[in-house]
Amino acid sequence: MDIRFLGHAAFELFDGQRRVLIDPFITGNPRSPVGPGDLEPTTILLTHGHADHIGDTVDIAKRTGAPVVAVVELAGELGEEGVQTFDPNLGGTVELDWGWVRLVPAWHTSTTPKGTVSTPAGMVIRFGGRTVYHLGDTALFSDLALPGARDELDVALVCIGGHYTMDRHDAGTAAGLVGARTVIPCHYDTFPPIETDVEAFRADVESSTASDVIVLEPGASHSL
Ligand code: NI
Ligand code: MN
Repeated sequence: MDIRFLGHAAFELFDGQRRVLIDPFITGNPRSPVGPGDLEPTTILLTHGHADHIGDTVDIAKRTGAPVVAVVELAGELGEEGVQTFDPNLGGTVELDWGWVRLVPAWHTSTTPKGTVSTPAGMVIRFGGRTVYHLGDTALFSDLALPGARDELDVALVCIGGHYTMDRHDAGTAAGLVGARTVIPCHYDTFPPIETDVEAFRADVESSTASDVIVLEPGASHSL
């Protein structure tokens, strides 16, 4: 299974056949390595409704027919725009032909550009024989340890940029709580308020936890 970083909090998971696209903020992302027309997802997953996560979701979903998994209120807005959706709430699991995705809590806010208020989420994703935990946009809280108590986590996708989410120091503590084999940092260096020292994050996590940190430049992939 390949994980390709598309900049900010956007990732594409690829099992050789199917593509799961997460938080596709492409247009307006100064560090996006692709255009929205380059993406051909099987399924789109959204952690929450902020513009830097919902991004190009509606256009990509309409063009490709890919269904979108999002928390119920956000799925409702997307459904009104003609997108096919799955609409779980926190704690709920959606079974798909490629695996499953479960919504878990994230401490953040979530209002869409159109004004829909919903609860933000993290996502635990079973795909390609691996389990990936995208933390979403979150502050540090101790329940970040709970997904790893249920499932062995191969990879955690962890926001580290501060200002809108936890910073690299709290993210280091979060990495210890999550306990994934590999940590891939995200949600940093896209805009000036979230610039951070990713190499310092890597050094802190690798010296204080059992996790390896893989730093991906936008466009780069990690295979596992
Ligand atoms: Ni956000
Ligand atoms: Mn964000």
